[in-house]
Amino acid sequence: MFQRVRKAVLPVAGLGTRFLPATKVIPKEMIPVIDKPVVQYAIEEARAAGIEEFIFVSALGKESIAAHFSPHPLLERSLEDKGKTAELALVRAASLPTGTMHTVIQENPLGLGHAVWCAWQLVGNEPFAVILPDDMVLSDTPCLKQLIDAHAKVGGHVVAVEDVPREQTNRYGILDVLSDDGKLAKAKGLVEKPAPDKAPSTLAIIGRYVLDPSVFLELDKKTKGAGNEIQLTDGLNRTIDKVPFHGLRFEGRRYDCGTRVGFVEANVAFALAHPEMADRLRPLVQKLLDIK
Ligand code: UTP
Repeated sequence: MFQRVRKAVLPVAGLGTRFLPATKVIPKEMIPVIDKPVVQYAIEEARAAGIEEFIFVSALGKESIAAHFSPHPLLERSLEDKGKTAELALVRAASLPTGTMHTVIQENPLGLGHAVWCAWQLVGNEPFAVILPDDMVLSDTPCLKQLIDAHAKVGGHVVAVEDVPREQTNRYGILDVLSDDGKLAKAKGLVEKPAPDKAPSTLAIIGRYVLDPSVFLELDKKTKGAGNEIQLTDGLNRTIDKVPFHGLRFEGRRYDCGTRVGFVEANVAFALAHPEMADRLRPLVQKLLDIK
């Protein structure tokens, strides 16, 4: 039996340059989709998948992320005094249980691999999840739970994958597939951001991972890759002869909130899936589409 996945690492130290000027002061992860910051969706998904400890790899100036998941006694008391129970419940639901949240500072944004490496001491020697909040997934079963369930069967590294158009392979970590049953693809290698004509497949890694802790030893070598950054994909690739690597074609739809179009798409998609908003929004979206 494989060890249970209890901890999640959330790398949130990036500069968010694609969202300037919004991200000049506000962390990208704190920008709301409808009425919740993007990062809250990631935490809710992790909790729904049974994660018990949450490790933010953050940067100076992004303290509002940890504050969002902490109690806010002044606000809570004021809402209580006014009898605003529904609002109070929303505020309290955003707080993580005391002692379950940790923050480690990545002093320089040296890459996703380096960000994950920063969490090594807090993760220790057990399998762990990585969630990139930018990738939002709408699904019946939380995407991370799907990965954890698959990991319980096959162990090793299990990451969420989806087929992307060939011209987009240079945006993703791509699997070199050894075998594929249509749901789980076993990889014999990984390439970070390959040019479309060099990509070994079109199966791309999106922002959900369950990883074997052996990846830390590889990340510790601090080898730089694409974009002169320490890439998580490269670290994983170097463990592939020792640790099985599977890509799971998850059930659900992913929205890339790291781009402006993806962010707008996520807002509309999540609103159309929102029980209180869908009926009112649908005709409005239709009306917008009818404008020539
Ligand atoms: P991105 O490639 O989206 O980079 O990182 P970014 O800085 O957030 O955004 P842009 O490209 O400048 O607009 C993917 C994820 O990895 C984290 C980011 O916070 C994001 O969640 N990351 C990236 C780090 O935590 N540290 C790094 O050094 C790099």
